[in-house]
Amino acid sequence: MPLKPLKRITLRSPSLKSSVSVEEAISWRRSERRYSVGKLTVDQVSQLMWCAQGITDRRGMLRAAPSAGATYPLEVYAVVKNGGVEGLDAGVYHYQPEDHSLGLLRNGDLSEELASACLGQGWVREAPLNIVITAVYARTTRRYGTRGERYVHMEVGHVGQNIYLQATAMGLGTVAVGAFYDDEVRKVLGVSEEERPLYVMPVGISVRKRFA
Ligand SMILES: Cc1cc2nc3c(=O)[nH]c(=O)nc-3n(C[C@H](O)[C@H](O)[C@H](O)COP(=O)(O)O)c2cc1C
Repeated sequence: MPLKPLKRITLRSPSLKSSVSVEEAISWRRSERRYSVGKLTVDQVSQLMWCAQGITDRRGMLRAAPSAGATYPLEVYAVVKNGGVEGLDAGVYHYQPEDHSLGLLRNGDLSEELASACLGQGWVREAPLNIVITAVYARTTRRYGTRGERYVHMEVGHVGQNIYLQATAMGLGTVAVGAFYDDEVRKVLGVSEEERPLYVMPVGISVRKRFA
């Protein structure tokens, strides 16, 4: 689990309405590796965090993506580039689903280091925001033994697709990046070996004309 944050930012409640249907989002979704110049908004970041791991059932504290036995092994981070998000300083933030907030863990623009950790993939360096998803396997393997490992991998797929579709519906583009050095990504986040990074997802403004 991440260290105590330097600062906590409460996010606005997510929007549950869109002019884009789920079918349109599925048909328009592509992996996008080039982005228009422009900042994201905090509300877009909020929406992306929510679709990844936000609480959608307060009574059961259930989340936007399914999880084997509701063991919730995944942690979500936002790595913000300098000037990448209106109203958010560059840095590494950890998403806290319980109160829909971001905890600032590290100050500064770490997109260059993150891109190097991802074998120099330029879209990671250029994106205003990178979402990083890590897993604490023990939360799931404690209950399911080694079979829990496959459950964790299935789960990150659900979260990745939610992020793809939510980004698409907001006119943003993303790509699921799986090629990186685990240790180097961990170092960028400042997290312990207990967490294994599974996806890095750069997000930027889409260059495609939506539903053209
Ligand atoms: C597990 C996984 C790992 C991936 N890793 C990378 C990656 O490291 N870099 C990259 O540019 N794209 C990566 N992709 C994106 C694929 O290249 C992309 O999904 C594929 O070309 C199909 O295109 P589409 O997503 O637009 O349908 C990955 C996709 C998956 C599912």
